[in-house]
Amino acid sequence: MSDDVVLRIEGLRKTYETGRVRALDGIDLVLRRGEFVSIVGPSGSGKSTLLHVLGALDRPDEGSVWLGGQDLVTAERLDRVRARSIGFVFQLHNLVPTLTAVENVELPLYALDVSRAERRRRAEELLVAVGLSERLHHRPSQMSGGQRQRVAIARALVNQPELVLADEPTGDLDQETGRHVLELLERLREERGLTLVLVTHDMAVAERADRTIRLIDGRIASS
Ligand SMILES: Nc1ncnc2c1ncn2[C@@H]1O[C@H](COP(=O)(O)OP(=O)(O)O)[C@@H](O)[C@H]1O
Ligand SMILES: [Mg+2]
Repeated sequence: MSDDVVLRIEGLRKTYETGRVRALDGIDLVLRRGEFVSIVGPSGSGKSTLLHVLGALDRPDEGSVWLGGQDLVTAERLDRVRARSIGFVFQLHNLVPTLTAVENVELPLYALDVSRAERRRRAEELLVAVGLSERLHHRPSQMSGGQRQRVAIARALVNQPELVLADEPTGDLDQETGRHVLELLERLREERGLTLVLVTHDMAVAERADRTIRLIDGRIASS
């Protein structure tokens, strides 16, 4: 595998309900380091399923998924792969309500061998990078929707992942706030050389990517 390939999938299939629902029906895809790829397609076309398989949240029924040098189909501990290599941003921020911003951002680092001081340092550095230096010790309920999504982005980056996956990260925000969150992701991607895969309904958002993949019925229609 050439050095600049972050992820390679071939012949990916995933069904639900013992085969009745074909969520992914033969997907081939190569992602290169630093690429920004958007995924669009109608509701139910398999976008979230694809992101979950790419992000080691779920295993396919068939096909191969290589992330870095690792085969995600046979990897014994997907949780470890995730902890080391993947950052996830969901539509709803999924922050822990009882924890402060900095504590939420630190969470992924508990699965890694990172000292307490280093955890705090990295979480604070990222919250500053996403423009929340004044909100380090606020809880999610004390922040706006856009600020919560910024915390979620900081949390997704704190393990210094190879691959950042975002599933409609602006879908729950008003247009203006959504645009700011997107600009933030784009800036971080540029500054940190991240590989970014973004699922969106919004063609204006999708078109900002280096390339757009359209899914229809679990297949790639064009890319
Ligand atoms: N956990 C599940 N159990 C059963 N069917 C599912 C499950 N998750 C997704 N599906 C089905 O798989 C297909 C693809 O879903 P999904 O990946 O969520 O699409 P999208 O994100 O594009 O809306 C849909 O038909 C959906 O109903
Ligand atoms: Mg979805």
